[in-house]
Amino acid sequence: MITHTSYAVEPWALRERGLHLDVLPQSESVFALSNGHVGWRGNLDEGEPHGLPGSYLNGVHEVHPLPYAEAGYGYPESGQTVINVTNGKIIRLLVDDEPFDLRYGLLRSHERVLDLRAGLLTRTCEWTSPAGTTVRVRSRRLVSFTQRAIAAVAYEVEAVGAPARIVVQSELVANEQLPDHDGDPRAAVVLESPLEAEEHFAKDGRLRLVHRTRRSGLRVGAAADHVVSGPEPTTTESEATDDLARLTVATVLAPGERLRVEKFVSYGWSGTRSLPAVSDQVDAALAAATSVGWSGLVAEQRAYLDDFWARSDVEVDGDEKIQQAVRFALFHVLQAGARAEQRAIPAKGLTGSGYDGHAFWDTETFVLPLLTYTSPGAVAEALRWRQNTLPAARDRAVQLGLRGAAFPWRTIEGSEGSAYWPAGTAAFHVNADIADAVVRYTSATGDERFERDTGVELLVETARLWRSLGHHDHHGTFHIDGVTGPDEYSAVADDNTYTNLMARANLRAAADAVERHPLRGEELGVDEEESTAWRDAAEAMYVPYNHELRVHEQHAGFTRYQRWDFAATRPDQYPLLLHFPYFDLYRKQVIKQADLVLAMCTCSTFFDAEHKARNFAYYEPLTVRDSSLSACCQAVIAAEAGHLRLAYDYLHEAALMDLEDLEHNTRDGLHIASLAGAWMALVAGFGGMRHHGARIDFAPRLPEQFGRLAFTLELRGRRLRVEIGRAEATYTLLNGDPLTVHHHDVPLTLDADKPHTRTVPLLEPRPAPDQPLHRRPNHLDAPES
Ligand code: BGC
Repeated sequence: MITHTSYAVEPWALRERGLHLDVLPQSESVFALSNGHVGWRGNLDEGEPHGLPGSYLNGVHEVHPLPYAEAGYGYPESGQTVINVTNGKIIRLLVDDEPFDLRYGLLRSHERVLDLRAGLLTRTCEWTSPAGTTVRVRSRRLVSFTQRAIAAVAYEVEAVGAPARIVVQSELVANEQLPDHDGDPRAAVVLESPLEAEEHFAKDGRLRLVHRTRRSGLRVGAAADHVVSGPEPTTTESEATDDLARLTVATVLAPGERLRVEKFVSYGWSGTRSLPAVSDQVDAALAAATSVGWSGLVAEQRAYLDDFWARSDVEVDGDEKIQQAVRFALFHVLQAGARAEQRAIPAKGLTGSGYDGHAFWDTETFVLPLLTYTSPGAVAEALRWRQNTLPAARDRAVQLGLRGAAFPWRTIEGSEGSAYWPAGTAAFHVNADIADAVVRYTSATGDERFERDTGVELLVETARLWRSLGHHDHHGTFHIDGVTGPDEYSAVADDNTYTNLMARANLRAAADAVERHPLRGEELGVDEEESTAWRDAAEAMYVPYNHELRVHEQHAGFTRYQRWDFAATRPDQYPLLLHFPYFDLYRKQVIKQADLVLAMCTCSTFFDAEHKARNFAYYEPLTVRDSSLSACCQAVIAAEAGHLRLAYDYLHEAALMDLEDLEHNTRDGLHIASLAGAWMALVAGFGGMRHHGARIDFAPRLPEQFGRLAFTLELRGRRLRVEIGRAEATYTLLNGDPLTVHHHDVPLTLDADKPHTRTVPLLEPRPAPDQPLHRRPNHLDAPES
């Protein structure tokens, strides 16, 4: 995208000059607005042309049967798919009887700007209709962070040079026609007309449509209200049918005159509330929005984001592209999680229907770390969502013959939605990832209430799962057999190192948590014997190791497999999953995404420096990065192992995944985990941040492309600023009680407002390991070292 000549590199905005229909679907994703509850893709106001129209409400989905050629016991019977709900963005324009459609007439100028500080998408254009009438259109759009049911548009049209007869149609549209599904398993199953009409209403510029999904039975309400100002006479008319509610505004503009339509849209949905209750809910939300008006919403949005940037901004000197990309990433991760409030944070956020709108382990492993240190409240909410889905996870465990809870691999509402069990149900590590997120959040915030009310239960139920899934062999060693780790080019293998180490941490954390909260433990039925069994399993956990190569094995026996024939694999055969059968990928040494390397990030203290370097060197030439979740982990370990140039290249890939559409599927929605991974690559990679229990470590080391890197973290109610230069790093505690951190292993006790500066040790450059043929990270225009 930003390599496209029309995209500018600037620090606080994403700007597109001109309109390029060849990248329209991608632009709809990068210009998407969301607050985690409501999501609007960056579709043009007039609705067409479009790549994929998209308006989403977090949690609103339809269910569909999962067809199996050969069904088996315990296969999930139904899948869930996010649906495109009522579109409140649409504002059509008629200029002297001709529709404003940029495919016709003459587009004199067109610009879209996503302002990351204002939280506004602005579009300005000048267009001459085929009949020769010229108008200037300016629209601004927001999805409110402060009023989570609300989105709004301020739309202005001006006549240029000659009078123009103008008609504006502001609409709510349900059951929009969607483009066909392209057969890529990562794209969404398209459900035609998922909404059944229940109510329509239109009067004096107020519009409302209420629908119900056919099978999942969710009631979805959308309402709109308008403020219109134009020259006399300007007439308005409101009308509604089942799937369309419309306000029509007509006027004649003299040259230089403007018509302005402010549109406030509210959304609400429920699986239980009645029709009148949902109608009232959307009307009430609208009343709150119209009471502050457009300028009020804009001011609230700015204040919310000022706050966010003060605690979250990452500054990168010397690399404008990365600077823009990391702010773009932070903004979109905030959008995905800010107001999700006890709903999932899907892999694509609310920016597209890719992966059917499902949430995966991506949330806990990639997205929540960033949010933990920048917007911790959102993390507590995301984990409460997991807690709310415990009944489904317990049922699933029972169905699988296990104890505790088996959280789903992919889901919207909590039940397992993966029809492919080797890379779904068998990927049990999601349970330990949730536990890890609980531990990280509680140690970063000290939120005891959360730990007692939510954390303990999640830890206990996941520990129970591990205890029942694994077993002690006759030597007493604990094994977890037949599971799939993060790398989806291996499946159903024994003793996946990542899984075992994460399960070990999970078991210990559960035993520790019930010790701290004995009453809660009792309520959950945990006795001494059970928590001792967790500790025993943790102590006896097997970690496979190849003594000859002196590397840890991704799973038992992995290093014995035949290597994938990379030399015979053409560049156009990536991603491999679209060109080769899984059975062959599974039995070869080829890695889709960081697995053992991820274990070295999340369970950092288990590995010494020598093993980190050797393991990294072993797994690099096997890792093809067919998942966008890989580069950021590789960046962290590359930096730790001293390969700063390689770490920089991986950061580039993670941060620019969507801005440069590196996987060619940004049209389906953004890769939220990869965007969060860009933060990880900077903070954990070049900042060397590790957080284990009470200890917080930094080991800063900058690549030569950067002059300075600065970031801010929220830690136990305090704010810490870290500023890393080429030779020195400065730590400043901005408020609160003293805090101890480690700089390259040396403890530093920080008092508020007293910066401490330390030298950054010089790193011996070492030759970096190779990657598989054709799979070197994308250097693009970064200078070669
Ligand atoms: C990755 C998974 C990930 C999913 C959703 C897949 O390609 O292999 O690890 O959870 O995408 O992002």
